[in-house]
Amino acid sequence: MNNPFIYGEEVIGESFIDRKKEIETFVRDIESNERIFLISPRRYGKTSLIVNLFLALKKKGLLTARIDLYKATSLQSFANLYASSVINAIESKPEKLVRIIQEFLPALRPTITMSPSGKTELGLDLRPREKNLELLLLDKLYNLPESIADKRKKHIVVAFDEFQEIRNLDGKNIEKALRSSIQQHHSVSYIFAGSKKTILYDMASNPSSPFYKMGKIVHLNKISKEDFEKFIVKEFAKRKTFLFDDAIEKIISLTENVPYNVQFLCHQLWDKCYEKKKITVQDVDETISDILSNQTPVYLTIWDNLPLSQRHLLKAIAISGGKNIFSHDFLTENKLGPAPSVQTSVNLLLSHGFLEKENGNYTLSDVFFKRWLERKA
Ligand SMILES: Nc1ncnc2c1ncn2[C@@H]1O[C@H](COP(=O)(O)OP(=O)(O)OP(=O)(O)O)[C@@H](O)[C@H]1O
Ligand SMILES: [Mg+2]
Repeated sequence: MNNPFIYGEEVIGESFIDRKKEIETFVRDIESNERIFLISPRRYGKTSLIVNLFLALKKKGLLTARIDLYKATSLQSFANLYASSVINAIESKPEKLVRIIQEFLPALRPTITMSPSGKTELGLDLRPREKNLELLLLDKLYNLPESIADKRKKHIVVAFDEFQEIRNLDGKNIEKALRSSIQQHHSVSYIFAGSKKTILYDMASNPSSPFYKMGKIVHLNKISKEDFEKFIVKEFAKRKTFLFDDAIEKIISLTENVPYNVQFLCHQLWDKCYEKKKITVQDVDETISDILSNQTPVYLTIWDNLPLSQRHLLKAIAISGGKNIFSHDFLTENKLGPAPSVQTSVNLLLSHGFLEKENGNYTLSDVFFKRWLERKA
């Protein structure tokens, strides 16, 4: 029997805990042409939600395109990615792709490649006579979804995943250009998803940002504890394994119910306890210990490379929790030194992705690193 707990990639079908409410709301928003900023910490399930939302929308006859901005390393690669995602939304047969490109983007020269797995991949090259990429982007590319939607009489949904990365391409210019195009689109809905909260907030709610008030802000929460528990019990029951209540409770609490973490722990638990008919809280503890010892080389490297001040702070947050970390009590109890230097460490740890900030509280992004620090202490 295959391990049903999947981590590190989008989950679909039976592996996707349905997030029914979110999908229903998004379908309604999209049908009424609302733009959405979808924000959550890393690994809460944004991409999985978009992929499953798209499956639901396709069933309703909408066209969908997803652009993962982590894959765009330059303006040129963004242009290629954007054009190919949008064009692939309407057509995936290579022989037809060329015709579509000629129809909608005659200035672009397509190259079509076959991946080793036999999947067709669409690459795009600029024709020599169109050297000015930026102009081309402005004129054609950003309006491509709307042109296709109009011609085909279809509604298109475009999702930018990790949207904040657009700022790494050419500052705010590309944002401005994109905004001025998409604000005129009536047959295309947009989702801007991302995990770098500060940047996304700045984009969506700072009056000087091009995307100011361009959509409603939605926070993706964790999957409810009850839904996750039901999923875990159901999957283990398929191979007639029973989990004691305290074992399930422990899985959820140790992982802080972060979807990726829960799936990761359950995946290891499934492998470790394959022969067992009953899983106890001790099995969960042993699985965690295995995970931590496997991760030790990675965590040691991180640890060794952190300056002392950041180590103290991380450890303090791991052990005492991340509430009121600038209070006199927290600073003195944990011997952290003056608030301004702690602030500097916090900013660095946030920007390097070691810490997350939620409602004024700080948590370690990697819960297993947190457990490792707790044990180290
Ligand atoms: N609805 C869900 N049902 C079951 N597992 C889920 C669900 N959503 C997320 N997960 C788990 O979390 C992992 C991360 O999900 P996903 O990649 O969708 O999150 P993300 O927020 O896009 O992450 P990142 O910030 O790294 O891009 C998945 O591989 C899966 O293990
Ligand atoms: Mg993602």
